[in-house]
Amino acid sequence: MEKIVLSIGGSVLIPGEEDPTYLKQLAELLRSAAPGRCLFVVCGGGRISRYYSETGRALGGTVEQLDQLGIMITRVNAALLRIALGDAASKDAPDTVEQAAALAQEGKIVVMGGTVPGHTTDAVAAMLAREIGADRLVNATSVDAVYSDDPKVNPAAKRHKELSIEELGGLVYSQHDAGRSSVFDPMGVRIAAEEGIDILIVSGRDLEDLEAAILGKEIKGTTVHS
Ligand code: UTP
Repeated sequence: MEKIVLSIGGSVLIPGEEDPTYLKQLAELLRSAAPGRCLFVVCGGGRISRYYSETGRALGGTVEQLDQLGIMITRVNAALLRIALGDAASKDAPDTVEQAAALAQEGKIVVMGGTVPGHTTDAVAAMLAREIGADRLVNATSVDAVYSDDPKVNPAAKRHKELSIEELGGLVYSQHDAGRSSVFDPMGVRIAAEEGIDILIVSGRDLEDLEAAILGKEIKGTTVHS
């Protein structure tokens, strides 16, 4: 049976644009993909977690305290998606990837947020993929593919249809150094490379492409071969 981990950014789940409509459609997609598969979803924090992190920083919070705020928000987003999924979701809210793995059940969707300070939910998704031996890792993000540069700033940026995991590593490490948020957490890329897990990067608001990625069909986004 296929095991798939979906990392879905908070910028996709709750950008403040028709969020209930989107969450209903996403839940419907996941429900219809679940039979015959084990699906795991790791939710990010988005603008709400950034708000708490910035406000906490202004109050002199430590990095660990800010990370804890972020983790709480990712877990709230996971709770929101569980509401949308209803009984298709596993009832428990795992706090660790080991707890999530133990909930694996054909046809059920396990939804979680962050785990411990020091990384992002992309890294959690990669750790979970390693824990369960996932067939693939889907990253539903706010861009429709991986580009050589920020396409909003550089119109000549090249859109990548396929990349090797080493090439993605080269891109995310250089973006990370520049202090920009990268398309996938560099720690997650390293884990996927070590484990030989492919990463499919799609726009989370493009439900057709997201469904194709989950079902293992051809996608418009970027396929990263590991
Ligand atoms: P996200 O995974 O949403 O991080 O977690 P992000 O990189 O800011 O999100 P996108 O992908 O750009 O939208 C939000 C914050 O929560 C903390 C981190 O501080 C992270 O930046 N966090 C999250 C942890 O410390 N540990 C976790 O396991 C998850």
